[in-house]
Amino acid sequence: MRTSNKKCLTITIDGYSSCGKSTFAKEIARRLKYKYIDSGAMYRAVTLLCIKNNIISRDKFDIKALKLLIAETDIDFRFTETRNRHETFLNGKNVEDEIRTAGVSDYVSQVSEIGQVRGKMVTIQRRHGKEGGIVMDGRDIGTVVFPEADLKIFMTASAEIRAERRYKELQAKGIDADFEAVKKNIEKRDYIDTNRKISPLKKAADAIVLDNSDMTVQEQMEWFEELLSELNYEN
Ligand code: DC
Repeated sequence: MRTSNKKCLTITIDGYSSCGKSTFAKEIARRLKYKYIDSGAMYRAVTLLCIKNNIISRDKFDIKALKLLIAETDIDFRFTETRNRHETFLNGKNVEDEIRTAGVSDYVSQVSEIGQVRGKMVTIQRRHGKEGGIVMDGRDIGTVVFPEADLKIFMTASAEIRAERRYKELQAKGIDADFEAVKKNIEKRDYIDTNRKISPLKKAADAIVLDNSDMTVQEQMEWFEELLSELNYEN
């Protein structure tokens, strides 16, 4: 990795579903005053588009229609004053809440397997990262989107712990969920994400592994601070 006293780093955070990537990535971005991009939100937005246009359902996936639709789809992140954060916009409409529902989670891995979808998302992601000073999380950010990134982190945690975290998150939002179903969804997504032909989830050769199974967010940030000083990055 090419880090040392450089100001506008590109930091990639890849890893399994429900590993706490977004929480960690957001904290890093806040700490360094960098831009944060949740690439998973982009794939979720395309999946929502598919559901709304009757392109995907339990026994149907009209890939041809998706390939046509994706060309004219716009995904963007805009600041929402009322919630004091950046949120996901699909063709000009705020879809931040809708993309987090179980319906979207059920189909998102299938939609993310399609080459045209990935091509379009990667173009948008690289546009955001042009100037550096960015933290982006996802599955292929260190391997495909920014292979030259300054700092690559690969996050992992046991499936049981990830399912517990996700389950608690849903409960806290008042969403009724079944623990076994949540765990199954996580395992299914792990399988599809790591086995797909295009840009599968895998650790970049130069990524640093963070297993946060037994770590709080605070401990993860302490780990990150140490990493920054080891890499001689002053901020
Ligand atoms: O990070 P997340 O769980 O919100 O991501 C949702 C899905 O999007 C995930 O199951 C796989 C896909 N994804 C991807 O294929 N590539 C990325 N860079 C980010 C997410």
